[in-house]
Amino acid sequence: MKKVGLVGWRGMVGSVLMQRMRDENDFATIEPVFFTTSQVGLASPEIGKPTDTLKDAFAIDDLQKMDIIITCQGGDYTNEVYPKLRASGWNGYWIDAASSLRMKDDAIIVLDPVNKDVVKQGITDGVKTYVGGNCTVSLLLMALGGLFEADLIEWVTPHTYQAASGAGARNMRELISQMGSIKDLVADKLADPASAILEIDQQVAEHLRSDALPTDQFGAALAGSLIPWIDVPMPSGQSKEEWKAQVEANKILGTSEKQTPIDGLCVRIGAMRCHSQAITMKLKKDVPVEEIERILAAHNEWVKVIPNEREATVSELSPAKVTGTLSIPVGRIRKLSMGPEYVSAFTVGDQLLWGAAEPLRRMLNILQE
Ligand code: HSE
Repeated sequence: MKKVGLVGWRGMVGSVLMQRMRDENDFATIEPVFFTTSQVGLASPEIGKPTDTLKDAFAIDDLQKMDIIITCQGGDYTNEVYPKLRASGWNGYWIDAASSLRMKDDAIIVLDPVNKDVVKQGITDGVKTYVGGNCTVSLLLMALGGLFEADLIEWVTPHTYQAASGAGARNMRELISQMGSIKDLVADKLADPASAILEIDQQVAEHLRSDALPTDQFGAALAGSLIPWIDVPMPSGQSKEEWKAQVEANKILGTSEKQTPIDGLCVRIGAMRCHSQAITMKLKKDVPVEEIERILAAHNEWVKVIPNEREATVSELSPAKVTGTLSIPVGRIRKLSMGPEYVSAFTVGDQLLWGAAEPLRRMLNILQE
């Protein structure tokens, strides 16, 4: 059995990873060793079999004993520990949720339903570092994988509707706090059917712009509003989240030398943990909608084509429906008025599952095949 070191298993992505590993009985086939940055010597989490107490996540000599390390501890940890561990001569597999190593030449971005061939070739070639992709990128490729595989896409513009969880656990709390503070403010008027809606609206608008709204994490109102910027600025005018779409997607697909253009605006909205994307794409030729739907649905077992009908869309294609599941619905597929090669689609996915934890635990299993 492989010795697998787990780091950052208590945080949000790490907790989702732990839950998935328990659900899929992944701990049965590995010898897990839990690491901590703050609680060395305390008991490891319950996983249904005996484990050692927590080891120090900065102790290179303990990390060196692992065949595989899987970390959700974040970029600062990776930046500090990974170079030291590699410099010490450790040649094990490093599986990482953080973005720090993603674009390194000697790292592969893992999303095996889309790039298992790239991952398998990497293992054969001796690549030892495997990194989860940006959540919007992974979710986009899970949805459109069939069209990419069939080499039908000329370019894609994904405009995103990204959930609070992508910014972190504290941001999710702040979103709920903002919602609550708005409701609290106008609760009396809301309970009175005779009250004037424009008065309520005025009061809410003032509250959204005031210091009374909790905005420590987002720096602005998200509830009752939106934030059309995610991550730091790039010289191109893109936000970094927007920049990632093309470079990461093409790296995952193994097409970095001849990139498919992928670029659109990334927007934070008041969803909890599902990212949605409104997609405009240009296909390389005129493909009938039924054929597009067939190609998309056949690509992997999680993507689900939703017919472009009102009731099916409202009930199936929303964060509320998808949250906490591995399902990747894609709908609103229709030809746009610009021409027969121009196609729209809308997709939703849980950014903590396919967007973060799931590709990592699957990579762990691929290493044991
Ligand atoms: N950067 C993403 C977001 C999450 O802010 O929603 C992680 O990929």
